[in-house]
Amino acid sequence: MYTTYTVAQLGEVLAGYRRAGDRVALVPTMGNLHAGHMALVERARELAERVVVSVYVNPTQFGPGEDFEDYPRTFEADRERLLAAGADVLFAPSTAEMYPDGPTAVTVSVDRVTEGLCGAGRPGHFDGVATIVTKLLCAARPDCAVFGKKDYQQWVVVRRLARNLLLDVAIEAAPVVREADGLALSSRNAYLDPAERRTAPCLYRSLREAVRAAGAGGRNPRELEGQAWRLLEECGLEPEYVEVRRRDDLAEVTDLGGPRVLLAAAHLGGTRLIDNLEFGPSDGTLEE
Ligand code: PAF
Repeated sequence: MYTTYTVAQLGEVLAGYRRAGDRVALVPTMGNLHAGHMALVERARELAERVVVSVYVNPTQFGPGEDFEDYPRTFEADRERLLAAGADVLFAPSTAEMYPDGPTAVTVSVDRVTEGLCGAGRPGHFDGVATIVTKLLCAARPDCAVFGKKDYQQWVVVRRLARNLLLDVAIEAAPVVREADGLALSSRNAYLDPAERRTAPCLYRSLREAVRAAGAGGRNPRELEGQAWRLLEECGLEPEYVEVRRRDDLAEVTDLGGPRVLLAAAHLGGTRLIDNLEFGPSDGTLEE
């Protein structure tokens, strides 16, 4: 596995792959790799002959007072995991490399799908994500890039970005990876103390319970959201948002008549957790 630190080094390695006719898949990460990230690498290996994983904690997607400084940085362990998983290239750029004229020189902004949900609670977050993802796609020019559905809104944002910047790249997704008790894997789970860790699976449980109840009769998205909200509060989580949206483009909905996703963010102590659940008639979770 090559470890590259500059766009120029990365370009040289990738040029060799392309000359050999190999396709390239990119997996963008902020490091602190866990089984959720490794599922993205696995998916990338299915999609292309060569897999590039970027590890870069992107400052522009963190707001003031968020956890940029504390975000876990575990570079050596990440490198070992990627080596064992058969990644071909680790790209670990510096901030000078990714933002040569500073963090505000160029910003990529995506409309509509960044409004509401995490976009409301984290102003500027998706500008930071869209900007760094665009830069990584420009640096690697991959055939495809793989994102986790855990960050569902991010995945929709990146699809809209690639489509509207006319980028010749397929944006692929991998399903959420969960602990045995249902908690979605996230680097931020490391912030939970043992008692909070025992409470945290309630987030996913509440989403499932509310969707199950909707399937059993309630047909109103607002009722479904209200029930999930109450369940979260009952187990000591502080909901930030709980919303049913159309799956494709996260449009607001007034019925449950098609592919839907229930998305939520909730606070537990000082930790912000997010999760989501796709549902709808086509998934068998609601009647046709
Ligand atoms: O999902 C993440 O880890 C980050 O938002 C990403 C896509 C690597 C951009 O920094």
